[in-house]
Amino acid sequence: MHFQWYPGHMTKAKRMMQENIKLIDLVIELVDARLPMSSRNPDIDELGKQKARLILLNKSDLADDRCNEEWENFFKEKGFSVVKVNSKKGNGIKSIQSVIQEACKEKIERDRKRGILNRPVRAMVVGIPNVGKSTFINALAGKACTKTGNKPGVTKGKQWIRLNKQVELLDTPGILWPKFEDQIVGLRLAFIGSIKDEILNSQELAAELISFLQEKYTGILAEKYEIDEQQDKYVCLEEIAKKRHCLVRGNELDLDKAARLVLDDFRNGRLGKITLEFPQDYS
Ligand code: G4P
Repeated sequence: MHFQWYPGHMTKAKRMMQENIKLIDLVIELVDARLPMSSRNPDIDELGKQKARLILLNKSDLADDRCNEEWENFFKEKGFSVVKVNSKKGNGIKSIQSVIQEACKEKIERDRKRGILNRPVRAMVVGIPNVGKSTFINALAGKACTKTGNKPGVTKGKQWIRLNKQVELLDTPGILWPKFEDQIVGLRLAFIGSIKDEILNSQELAAELISFLQEKYTGILAEKYEIDEQQDKYVCLEEIAKKRHCLVRGNELDLDKAARLVLDDFRNGRLGKITLEFPQDYS
């Protein structure tokens, strides 16, 4: 399978990021809790190296609880502040404000020593497409937010959302480009639906997901689809098609339909809370 992220988009995204990052104190980086490494782009470490850093394990509702804990510890050990969130339902959002203060305490202390009091911390949300940036900003800002207009010294046109007296958020999130060059990364991003399905072979993709589940979440497929899951991944797909009556022209199996069913069930959490990569593989 081959994936493509247009170089033009990438250059533009990177330029925007470089411009905006100068204006902020804190980078709030959203990753997908199901694949916290593959949904990151390590370029952000270079771009944000002078800034305070907060990683949000978003969509934590769809990921394995035990793995969420492990990933939280993994990033904390690397010096990041970390919060598990479900931006859609709002879980974890309440604690963010205090974590922001904590993550920026050195900057606040530096300001205080220079006699600068009450200057709000400025933050920007970044992440790859579809990771939940807009959902998160809406959840964090809520209805109570007031947008501030252009400010002296700030590039014209930038809008800041004032969360409270202490924190302001750039209202447009920064888009990071995924690292498709690595095929495993591309495959995992495709599992979660970050890559348009039209450009992929859905049967191949579903078969790879089946193979992963057979190994790491043994029993899930057997339980959900009432099949013998200890078989070749493509045979499993056929079994699922039979059980779910995915048919074309009366009695021929519709494997594309079965593949989409499996992928949809996974993406919507109907197969349970599943994490696709594990900290042990990155230590
Ligand atoms: P982006 O700005 O980073 O591109 O992402 P966006 O907020 O548009 O979110 C992408 C999708 O992810 C949306 O679903 C959104 O509802 C969902 N999402 C965001 N955060 C979470 C989360 O913590 N948990 C879960 N389960 N889903 C989350 P969608 O399919 O585009 O829309 P809809 O189904 O919500 O209508």
